[in-house]
Amino acid sequence: MSFLQLQQLKKTFADGTEAVKGVDLSIDEGEFIVLLGPSGCGKTTTLRMVAGLEAPSDGRVIIAGQDVTRLRPAQRDVGFVFQFYALYPHMTVEQNIAFTLESTGAARRECRERVADVSRVMGLGALLRRYPRQLSGGDQQRVALARAVVRRPKVYLMDEPLGTLDADKRLEMREFIRSRQQEMKVTTIYVTHDQEEAMSLADRVVVMHEGMICQAGPPTEVYDDPASLFVARFVGSPGMNFIPGSVVADDGQRFFVPHQSQARMPLGRDVRPGPVTLGVRPEYVYPSSDGPIAGSVVMDEYQGNFRSIHIDTGFAHNLVMRAGDADARAVGESIRLSFNAEHTRFFDGNTGQRL
Ligand SMILES: Nc1ncnc2c1ncn2[C@@H]1O[C@H](COP(=O)(O)OP(=O)(O)O)[C@@H](O)[C@H]1O
Ligand SMILES: [Mg+2]
Repeated sequence: MSFLQLQQLKKTFADGTEAVKGVDLSIDEGEFIVLLGPSGCGKTTTLRMVAGLEAPSDGRVIIAGQDVTRLRPAQRDVGFVFQFYALYPHMTVEQNIAFTLESTGAARRECRERVADVSRVMGLGALLRRYPRQLSGGDQQRVALARAVVRRPKVYLMDEPLGTLDADKRLEMREFIRSRQQEMKVTTIYVTHDQEEAMSLADRVVVMHEGMICQAGPPTEVYDDPASLFVARFVGSPGMNFIPGSVVADDGQRFFVPHQSQARMPLGRDVRPGPVTLGVRPEYVYPSSDGPIAGSVVMDEYQGNFRSIHIDTGFAHNLVMRAGDADARAVGESIRLSFNAEHTRFFDGNTGQRL
């Protein structure tokens, strides 16, 4: 049985905003789940309901077989880091980190050791005697994180815990969170709107949109097999190429024909005729002298270890192809292209759902 369950979780605020519209999620013990989605899609509200900081309008939260829906946060044994959840201003960094640990009844000596240990690993050793007001926003956030991970609760809940950190610290803390979580095997829900962060941390990425889950799966699956145009747009950078067109049947064969184009691309699989959007990631677009698509280079974007070549094909003015760092292209150069049929995806032209 799964360790943490969200069952038909809903939240409608007093002003009528339907922030969460029925979320079902079963999470295994020790699993690292990342809730990913754009601002306003209901991530924080979902997490707050799991923490007990927000009462659901409907549905249940079950932790380790116990229905905790009506329990207060302190009764749920969860450790959380919320974006704007302040530190105790009258306590030093050390006292802030130790406080929740002490309140669980751990021995004083053990507390000190664990606080020292976490502080050392997180590079907070020099700050222990300071007060929150004497710290930068980024350092405060690291203290909040330390306060959560110094304990081993049943569940960690983290809402954009790295949001205010500088890029280098963010990477370092990301690695720290992942290794700590694996070491302690604490079931975790981590919220972010940063798809790269989600992909690198998660065992399973849960993509949310307008208060609902639109896909839940391992990072590779969400990247390679997005369930809808929405997910496909949200995951990956540079993003997937999208080409509106239709599938036509001719002589027992099926082809994709882009809008306003004569190009016919044989399909790698059976898709029913009708309006569709073809999706292909830049790494599956490749130069091919007898390829079905002709175009000209409009931009060669050097990105260090690879290049994004932007191509105007007439039906797509900015088709992006990923190329090797040494494979420079001149603007205006003619080029013929193919798509790797195995990695070409089709989405319903009306609903955006993957076909
Ligand atoms: N206390 C509240 N009262 C009314 N609406 C709220 C409240 N908190 C959040 N919302 C709304 O609920 C929706 C989801 O918000 P939130 O869960 O914070 O999204 P996210 O964390 O994904 O950015 C948004 O439209 C937001 O404006
Ligand atoms: Mg939020």
